Amino acid sequence: MNDTPTLRAAGRAPVLNRRTFMMTTAASAGVAAGCGAAAATPDASANPHAGSQATRVTVNGRPYELALEPRASLLDVLREQLGLTGAKKGCDHGQCGACTVHVDGRCVASCLTLAVKTDGCAVTTIEGVESPHGTLHPMQQFFVDHDALQCGYCTPGQVMAAIACVREGHATTDAQIREYMSGNICRCGAYAGILEAIREAAPQMRRLEGTRNA
Ligand code: FES
Ligand code: FES
Repeated sequence: MNDTPTLRAAGRAPVLNRRTFMMTTAASAGVAAGCGAAAATPDASANPHAGSQATRVTVNGRPYELALEPRASLLDVLREQLGLTGAKKGCDHGQCGACTVHVDGRCVASCLTLAVKTDGCAVTTIEGVESPHGTLHPMQQFFVDHDALQCGYCTPGQVMAAIACVREGHATTDAQIREYMSGNICRCGAYAGILEAIREAAPQMRRLEGTRNA
């Protein structure tokens, strides 16, 4: 995953906002674009019977050795092979953020990330953010406290992006938060609550994790 660009690279001034970048890239080039990292879009012309590829990946701290179809998306592997259905399939085209997970700590759209590209990586999904004792992650708790959801379909992706927003140091102002979260769409319009949740969770996360801008 080291060769995959990220919109959220530290110190990199964004030329486009994240949503614009994702839409433009996905539509014009067929090149994958995550909310942070990018990977190749599954190739529709590829031989569907091509041989599987051995892939070792750690998901939520648990190691897996998988035989994967080369064009399988990380989202499909998580949901259909590993039974981790927290990441949601909204658009399946990198435009909504419902499928957001972390790969080696970076925020990605798993629908546009080839699963085989995560070989040797650590993947974290919404199922992996609570404490080992079952306590909600502070970001999850503040989403609840601020009613930052209605139907909840977008919420796993929103929470994963929100955690990365704080960890990457992009939650110091409301404008920063809105910009960073612009690739995560909420059809229910829970944006006000989401902003409040991130604003309030940020200092607590910084205290707990010692993240930048503490
Ligand atoms: S961005 Fe992946 S499902 Fe919408
Ligand atoms: S809470 Fe329904 S789409 Fe966001």
